[in-house]
Amino acid sequence: MLIAIDGPAGAGKSTVARAVAQALGFTYLDSGAMYRCIALAELRGAPDPLVCAIGLDGDVVKLDGEDVSAQIRTPEVSERASEVASRPQVRAKLVELQRGLIAAGDYVAEGRDIGTVVAPDAELKVFLTASPQERARRRAEQIGADPAVVLREQTLRDERDSTREHSPLTAAADAVEVDTTGLDSDEVVARIVALAGRFLD
Ligand code: CDP
Repeated sequence: MLIAIDGPAGAGKSTVARAVAQALGFTYLDSGAMYRCIALAELRGAPDPLVCAIGLDGDVVKLDGEDVSAQIRTPEVSERASEVASRPQVRAKLVELQRGLIAAGDYVAEGRDIGTVVAPDAELKVFLTASPQERARRRAEQIGADPAVVLREQTLRDERDSTREHSPLTAAADAVEVDTTGLDSDEVVARIVALAGRFLD
């Protein structure tokens, strides 16, 4: 079974997707980490970032064998990730990689285009949202930054992610939209686990 969780930055996708995977005994797939790896490779000056080897093992993210789990979370990488994600060749490579992974076993996959492009046949699709201010506040708290600065960067990234030509961020027609403003993550997780229950014995 596949649960697709898509939505904008700071909606709580990573926390929620991880917890849903744990609750159901599914594997968690962080597709954004892959875009971040390509961005990091490019920032490091790799001649062809598309040929780098990306490894995801639980929460550990590897780029050409090196643990880059922390390095891929900087604001500089976030910014470049959103930029590389607008390129069709990058998307084609990563979508193929993601499809290969989710082909076997039960997954909770999170990103921007899981329910629309990577796996339009996912059994359950969730689109997580929250107000821009709430999303910026959460992200700022997570990385210890100024919420006003995060909000400014987030607005630019949201704009780019939702207006790009290839696979713009948009909810699948059959996605369940969950607005997480004012909800804590336990409530959101319980809601998604309940929705998934319909597909499980
Ligand atoms: O953690 P956050 O939601 O801020 O970002 P992320 O999920 O780690 O993704 C980083 C960037 O990769 C996003 O700004 C998107 O531009 C891009 N991305 C994408 O285009 N498609 C995906 N399935 C996942 C991420």
